[in-house]
Amino acid sequence: MCGIIGYTGTEQAAPILLDGLRKLEYRGYDSAGIAVLYDNALTVCKITGRIANLSEKTEDGKATPGQVGIGHTRWATHGAPTDENAHPHKSNDGRFAVVHNGIIENYQALRAELVEKGYTFESETDTEVVVHLIEMYYEGDVKNAVIRASARLRGSWALGVLCTDCPDTVYVAREASPLILGAGVGENYFASDITALVSYTRNVMYLDDGEFAAVSPAGITIFDGTGRPVEKKLHRITWDVAAAEKGGYEHFMLKEMMEQPRATEATISPRIRDGEVFFEGFALGEEELRSIDKIVITACGSAYYAGCAGKIAIERLCRIPVSVELASELRYADPLIDEHTLLVVLSQSGETADTIAAMKECKARGARTVAVVNVVGSTVAALADHVIYTWAGPEIAVATTKGYTTQLSVLYLLATYLAGKKGSVPRERYDACVAAIRSIPKLIQEAIDLNAAALPRLARKYCDHASMFYIGRNTDYAVSLEGALKMKEISYIHAESYAAGELKHGTIALIEEGQPVVALCCNEDVTEKTVSNIVECKARGAEVLAVTFRDNGRVISQADDVIALPRMETVFSPAVEIVPLQMLAYYVARERGCDIDKPKNLAKSVTVE
Ligand code: BG6
Repeated sequence: MCGIIGYTGTEQAAPILLDGLRKLEYRGYDSAGIAVLYDNALTVCKITGRIANLSEKTEDGKATPGQVGIGHTRWATHGAPTDENAHPHKSNDGRFAVVHNGIIENYQALRAELVEKGYTFESETDTEVVVHLIEMYYEGDVKNAVIRASARLRGSWALGVLCTDCPDTVYVAREASPLILGAGVGENYFASDITALVSYTRNVMYLDDGEFAAVSPAGITIFDGTGRPVEKKLHRITWDVAAAEKGGYEHFMLKEMMEQPRATEATISPRIRDGEVFFEGFALGEEELRSIDKIVITACGSAYYAGCAGKIAIERLCRIPVSVELASELRYADPLIDEHTLLVVLSQSGETADTIAAMKECKARGARTVAVVNVVGSTVAALADHVIYTWAGPEIAVATTKGYTTQLSVLYLLATYLAGKKGSVPRERYDACVAAIRSIPKLIQEAIDLNAAALPRLARKYCDHASMFYIGRNTDYAVSLEGALKMKEISYIHAESYAAGELKHGTIALIEEGQPVVALCCNEDVTEKTVSNIVECKARGAEVLAVTFRDNGRVISQADDVIALPRMETVFSPAVEIVPLQMLAYYVARERGCDIDKPKNLAKSVTVE
């Protein structure tokens, strides 16, 4: 996820662009840049690091004359954070500059075509194909060139386009990435979200997918892919800037939970083409696959729990032994790792000290390493033989949500990819897995919609307990680990996960009158057994909150409260089942007045040991 902004009016553009980029910095902050039109020429200034570096380089914009410009703050997806990969990107003829938020999924084919036609590239980014396409289609009409170039793209984009032949107009295009137009008096704006605009204007219009606009000081003209005008309603924003940064949500964690359908879509969709799973940064030949006799997943915190859920899918589909190891333990375990081990490293930040140390230990013993990370150019990504990015966008809240579900999405894609390569599942099972993974974003949205109204009430009921049990079997047990951690992390309630089958071996002794037990029952293969556990716990006075399919009458009849879920493929169910448990923890923490985005004693990334 990146942030884009544009301005055209009577003021100097650069200071306004920089101010807007500072408000968008939470959307991405590994590099930034601006392009300003002045005297029929483009001035482009871009640099790695925070907006402060760009401000310093441009004397806070004062050194850059011109009243029309575009700006970008980057969260790298394709190409590490470098000056060359920062936006804006310029056309070879120097006539155009482009900023982009989103992912161009077919950029490799477009790049090859453009190189073939003689265009030269300066960056490794997907975005750069856009500016060369616009140049290629330009015959004097920028609007037409932008429409034709957009028609060639697949994926998601919010584009800002400057052209030296249009000294006061910026062109924008939107497909699946947010783009808001700000209407001023004698000046107009666009941005990725309201945060960047609200201190300049509260009058906004929302561009929809497949729409374009020409933004000039005189006004904003919106049109569709055929060039036909589109009418838009003006909205009045009542948020303040701080609220706007969170997209109107009270906390970043709530915003990031609600982003999970989009984040998992952005992570899954580019890796399935014509019904086949593929990874642009990772491929295993038959020979290499045959040489692997085990897979080790290593991580910390929630990433470790994502590994516990991913293990089930990989073993079920690929029949390769998978062990999931806490990085802080693996690094000291004198591990049985060699060149026949595939090491999968999970890390949202890519900077967790123990994870890096464990990875180095395993590399030294010959393991082939695949990193699943959310930060391009992070240490874990740089150390790995292969990298598969989770395209979740920046995750600000300390307690991960979209980081976890996008890691799971990658693990499910990986399990299916390996199964396809190994031929360990019949073709119809492979196709069913691809379809089930594709449905994860939609099912996450359904899980949110089914429970959004009830969860605040459930939170009020359960928020005053000193402890909570989370129980489940197999995939439900894997989810219970992360569900309990979420509750601990942000509400400080002592929540513990137990394998449901273990209750009789000691832990049921802790059940007292009123003890909350969250019983996860989304794995039909073992639900009957967990229903027995529910009955046993209730017989000792427990208050049972069951997490199960909305039509599972057997479980619902036994529980005191229910979190209902849409039916889904069992082996991939953790990616959906976890979401209402994230929300439960969020609303309980909110009831308890906790600092949800920055829980006490916790850090977003533990870069020290
Ligand atoms: C913790 C975070 O500090 O580190 C967790 O709060 C995270 O959310 C864990 O799961 C591991 O971090 P990372 O960046 O390696 O996934």
